[in-house]
Amino acid sequence: MFGLGTVARVVGEVRRDVAAAHARDPAARGVGSIEILASWPGVQAVLAHRVAHGLHGIGVPVAPRTLSILSRAWTGVEIHPAAQIGQGFFIDHAAGVVIGETAQIGDDVTLYQGVTLGGTGFQTGKRHPTLQDNVTVGAGAKLLGAITVGHGAKIGANTVVIHDVPPNTTVVGNPGHPVRVEGKRPEGPDTDWIHLPDPIADAINRLSARIAELEREVIELSGSERETVAEVRPLRPVHGPNPAGG
Ligand SMILES: CC(C)(COP(=O)(O)OP(=O)(O)OC[C@H]1O[C@@H](n2cnc3c(N)ncnc32)[C@H](O)[C@@H]1OP(=O)(O)O)[C@@H](O)C(=O)NCCC(=O)NCCS
Repeated sequence: MFGLGTVARVVGEVRRDVAAAHARDPAARGVGSIEILASWPGVQAVLAHRVAHGLHGIGVPVAPRTLSILSRAWTGVEIHPAAQIGQGFFIDHAAGVVIGETAQIGDDVTLYQGVTLGGTGFQTGKRHPTLQDNVTVGAGAKLLGAITVGHGAKIGANTVVIHDVPPNTTVVGNPGHPVRVEGKRPEGPDTDWIHLPDPIADAINRLSARIAELEREVIELSGSERETVAEVRPLRPVHGPNPAGG
């Protein structure tokens, strides 16, 4: 059942959760651990989930869901008892957070208020997001479906994410799209409309080169004194304003 090992594990996890609040909430600087446990609803919600998840894991009926519902009423955070949550998890401001049954959350993840880790319909099986380590999800963001958010990714406030997010990527907007990858702006579509390939000019150029070669051979074979061969000129460079400039 609920042995000493389980209690020790839950206590260790709660310690790391409180440390996460200290580290990631500027308002928690200088506040004692007891005060954080007593008055940080995000920490309380995670604590309640740790217990509910432990009970759920050993097959205790009713209690895990009851605990989850009580925690929801008290903190405004709804976490399904089966959701798997790593260490150092912090929910800032707590209210309006929903974490679904098959959600998986790695270590040192931060969520702000109003985040949903939800499903997209009535499908069964794995249907909620997986968040790898060190992911941050901004206020009001909705992450839907069995997607994976790579480690170190940041999801902007109010973003809607329905596709996988690569590691160390910042995603914003609806639909969510990357605005930073490894700290740099992602490569956009090719907007170089000046230097478009010109297959017809290329073909004429190649033909001219072959004619010049043939002319040279004819001159050699005929022993003619003529030296000039067909001239291949580069295409006229484009002038004027850059239409890609807008
Ligand atoms: C997404 C976020 C993490 C990016 O922070 P950052 O790494 O410092 O990146 P930047 O601020 O340079 O923003 C990168 C780009 O995304 C845009 N952007 C940032 N956040 C955005 C958002 N929530 N929605 C839409 N666009 C956003 C910026 O305008 C910028 O665009 P640009 O490349 O055209 O200049 C941050 O803006 C955010 O939303 N954090 C959540 C904070 C939160 O929920 N706080 C609640 C406290 S109660």
